[in-house]
Amino acid sequence: MFYQLPPAGNPVCLAPAVTGTVPADVFTTWSSRLLASGTAALAAAVIAAIRLKGVDDPEVILPAYGCPDLVSAVLYAGARPVLVDREPDRPWMDLEQVSTRINPETVAIIAVSFLGIPERMDSLAALASASSVVLIEDSAQAFPQDPDADFWNADLVVLSFGRGKPVSLLGGGAVLYRDSRLGSLLPDFGAQGQHPGLILRLQVTLYNLLLSPRLYWLPQSLPFLHLGETYFHPLDQLGPMDAGRIALLPSNIEAYRRRPDTAREAMAELVATAAVSGSDVIDLPVACGMPRSRRLLRYPVLFDRLARDSVYRELRCKGLGAAIMYPVILPEVAGLEAVFSAAKEFPVARSFAARLLTLPLYERLSAADFTGISECIRADR
Ligand SMILES: Cc1ncc(COP(=O)(O)O)c(C=O)c1O
Repeated sequence: MFYQLPPAGNPVCLAPAVTGTVPADVFTTWSSRLLASGTAALAAAVIAAIRLKGVDDPEVILPAYGCPDLVSAVLYAGARPVLVDREPDRPWMDLEQVSTRINPETVAIIAVSFLGIPERMDSLAALASASSVVLIEDSAQAFPQDPDADFWNADLVVLSFGRGKPVSLLGGGAVLYRDSRLGSLLPDFGAQGQHPGLILRLQVTLYNLLLSPRLYWLPQSLPFLHLGETYFHPLDQLGPMDAGRIALLPSNIEAYRRRPDTAREAMAELVATAAVSGSDVIDLPVACGMPRSRRLLRYPVLFDRLARDSVYRELRCKGLGAAIMYPVILPEVAGLEAVFSAAKEFPVARSFAARLLTLPLYERLSAADFTGISECIRADR
C-alpha cells in the first residue's frame, strides 16, 4: 500500500530557462495565446471556429470516448457536441462517421492525439477543408520533442499544461495558430492573472515531493483530490495564464525536450513480449504505426475485458502505476447523460473503454518496477 507509482510522474521544473527563450518563440512557427487551462484554450478555439462560419446552431464533432473536458469546452463556446465512434482497436475516430456527421452547421472537428498517438490528420484535414470546417488538434497529451519537427497539422492546436501532461505547470493551456485571420477570431480573455509566484512554487514543490513512490499513496487516498477519476465539470470562464506559470513555461519545455525517453524503449519491449505470449494483447503505439521519434505520455495497451480488469487489479495492488483512463464513453459520464440523451450507441468506443490499460512511462521507474509490470501483464496469459 505504501509503494505507489503515479500513472504520470515527471516533476515540474522550477529553475529558470537556460536558453532564455520567451513564450513568444517556444512554439516556433506557431503564434500562441496562453490561457488558464487546456479546457479554456479549447473553448477559445471552438469560439473562433463558430465566428468564422457564423451559423445559427453550430455543431462540433468529437470522439465518443475521451476527456469530458472536450464537452465542457464545446458547451461553453455555445456549440452542440456531436459524437462519433472509434475505429476498431484504435484511438482514432471512425472517418466514415466523421464524414456523415458533417453538415452545414458543423464548425469544427476536434482531433485528439491520445496519449501522444497522432490522429490521421491528413484524412481529417481533407474532410474538414471540403466542408469549410475548422480542424482543431487537441494536443493536450502530445508535445514535440524536436522543436523543428513538423508535429502539428491543423488549423488550430490546443495544449494543456495541467497535472500529468507532457509539459506540466499544474495548470494552464494554449491555442496555437498560423492563420492570422483565425487568430484574430479568438476571444479576449482579460488581463493576465497575477498568480503569486511563491504560492505556485510551494504547490510545485509539494507536487514534486508527492510524486515519490513512497509518498504517492497519500494524495491517492484523499478523495477530494479526485485523482484518476473521470468527471464532468462545466467551464465557467475563459481566463489568461498567470504570470507565475508563464515564467516557468520555457524551462519546462526545455526540461521536457532534454528528458531521456529510455522508459519507452523498456516498456515497448516488455509489452511486445506480453503481446507475443497472448494474442488478445494489442500494443497500441505499434498497431498505430507510431514512430519512435514521437513521445508517449503513458504506454497504452488493449487487453480483452476480463484480462484488463484482473491485470489492472494486480498492478494497482502492487502499486505499479497502471490506469484505465476514462472508464466509460462520454454519454455515460455522470453529468453528461442529458447532453447526449439522443446520441446513438458507440459500441467500438465502449469496447475500447473496457479494454484499455495504461502503463507508466517516466524516468524514475526502476528495474524492479519493470520486472513487476512484466510479471503482471504476463500472469494472465
Ligand atoms: C485530451 C485533453 N484535452 C483537454 C484537456 C483539458 O485540459 P486542462 O485539464 O488543462 O483543462 C485534457 C485534460 O486532461 C485532455 O486530456
